[in-house]
Amino acid sequence: MRVGVLTGGGDCPGLNAVIRGIVRKGVQEYGFDFTGFRDGWRGPLEGDTVRLDIPAVRGILPRGGTILGSSRTNPLKTEGGVDRVKRNLAENEVDALVVIGGEDTLGVAAELSAHHGVPCVGVPKTIDNDLSATDYTFGFDTAVNIATEAIDRLHTTAESHMRVLVVEVMGRHAGWIALHSGLAGGANVILIPEQRFDLDQVCAWVESRFKIRYAPIVVVAEGAMPLDGDLVLKDGTLDSFGHVRLSGIGEWLAKQIEKRTGKEARTTVLGHVQRGGTPSAFDRWLATRFGLHAIEAVRDGDFGTMVALRGTDIVRVPIGDATARIKTVDPALYQEAGVFFG
Ligand code: F6P
Repeated sequence: MRVGVLTGGGDCPGLNAVIRGIVRKGVQEYGFDFTGFRDGWRGPLEGDTVRLDIPAVRGILPRGGTILGSSRTNPLKTEGGVDRVKRNLAENEVDALVVIGGEDTLGVAAELSAHHGVPCVGVPKTIDNDLSATDYTFGFDTAVNIATEAIDRLHTTAESHMRVLVVEVMGRHAGWIALHSGLAGGANVILIPEQRFDLDQVCAWVESRFKIRYAPIVVVAEGAMPLDGDLVLKDGTLDSFGHVRLSGIGEWLAKQIEKRTGKEARTTVLGHVQRGGTPSAFDRWLATRFGLHAIEAVRDGDFGTMVALRGTDIVRVPIGDATARIKTVDPALYQEAGVFFG
């Protein structure tokens, strides 16, 4: 049996650990051969392959990024894309495909599996942790650790200058990174996309910190929005889709806080630092186990399924369960963090 492997969407720490788990178990236990496809769905679409065997996966466990490359190419949105994918898989004698990706990449796998006879097994990845049907995605823990370290460092410089420090973290639709790193780093305000924020309230929290001679740290997810969205619009930081422009809300918020409280404010946008570099031990563990279980699903012919974490178990779920809707922060969880605000 020949198994194809691809990694699609935004990269994230742990992708290489999954690939290694798949190949090691697939070769050693099942005698499978592998073909790597380059740059997500672009690989099968254009027949762009890369050698994938035991020597190719040696030493990649701690490496960030993906040895296969990634892209956001979507064959369902490409003229004749599905037929091209099927033709190239057949030409490369690929019998099954392991698709490692987020909502978009896995959405293609679900569709191809269900309606076009392409046997796919999915592996969920995203630093945002916003995929349903799995307790955690790998990459998230690493991103939270990076953001937490940044917040720790920003506390000391904020205190030296008695400034407000706004830290913008990733998360367009879900505030998981903001909530977890904000709690772990002792932020004084955490703002997430799921809950529109009241600017007056944010300024009140900021001022209450200064009253007890502490410099406040505000953690804001990139997709967070004020109650009055027009405020942002007036400052021109909305994109043409009506969404807050990526990497815009932190800067906007710092300006507003400065204007309203008279306190000096600075912004740090963590951006892609959160996605780069070596995975944490937890992410290596999770990604490796996802890889081992994904190739087991291929061996079982259990296509159209995705591996998922439930508690400490790895289970199989229909891929569609993960892509049907994103997993957002439960309001009760956010409220729980509120005791530390201000
Ligand atoms: O991987 C998910 C994500 O990191 C989002 O949090 C972020 O908004 C987006 O990707 C950035 O994507 P890109 O690297 O394509 O700019």
